[in-house]
Amino acid sequence: MNLVIFGPPGAGKGTQSNFIAKKFNLYQLSTGELLREEIKNKSDLGEKISSIINSGDLVSDNIVSELIERFISKKEYQNRIIFDGYPRNLAQAKNLDDLLKNNNQKINVVLKLSVSLKTIKKRISERKDLENRTDDNEETAIKRYKTYEKNSKPVIDFYEHSGLLRVINGERTINEISSEISALIEAI
Ligand code: AP5
Ligand code: MG
Repeated sequence: MNLVIFGPPGAGKGTQSNFIAKKFNLYQLSTGELLREEIKNKSDLGEKISSIINSGDLVSDNIVSELIERFISKKEYQNRIIFDGYPRNLAQAKNLDDLLKNNNQKINVVLKLSVSLKTIKKRISERKDLENRTDDNEETAIKRYKTYEKNSKPVIDFYEHSGLLRVINGERTINEISSEISALIEAI
């Protein structure tokens, strides 16, 4: 099974992906984490993208597509990927369908975590003290949210249309959300 976990910054995509990956023996493919790794390693790509990430904009579709294709094409990840943070716009959603199709795979379910801006601000400001993400300051967090608002509607419509979308209330406790997601996956 391949699944997409979708939602605004701080919605709990990483938290829930991590839980699902362990419970169902899937692989968590977080594009944000992969990009942060590149920056940490000071690779050419990392140098190119660090200012974009720190501004709260999206990195180019081509760059992110190349990153995820490496995993989609590998046997060991076949039909066991959780896409955490991809796709983020309509072009990426269509590209993901194509990449999966070319590798005889598909998406089984898309989980959209719904969370208010108030909750997002609170979670991101609390995480700032725990993790050291350079994009977790308030200004960039708000910009990330605006980027999400600008791009998300066509993606949601796309998956709703294909019957894959499940909307999850992300305002509850981590455990309550995990339980709902577990039950949902088990029913597939
Ligand atoms: P990315 O790393 O994906 O960041 P994001 O989408 O802004 O989301 P976050 O990672 O901040 O939040 P999350 O939803 O994972 O929540 P989490 O579980 O951590 O992307 C970063 C950047 O990379 C982008 O801005 C862009 O520049 C670039 N990028 C990435 N993907 C891209 C793509 N496809 N195309 C182009 N560019 C791309 O939770 C947040 C906090 O809240 C944690 O501290 C957690 O412990 C806590 N928490 C979680 N759930 C709950 C709960 N239910 N109750 C209370 N606290 C909770
Ligand atoms: Mg995350």
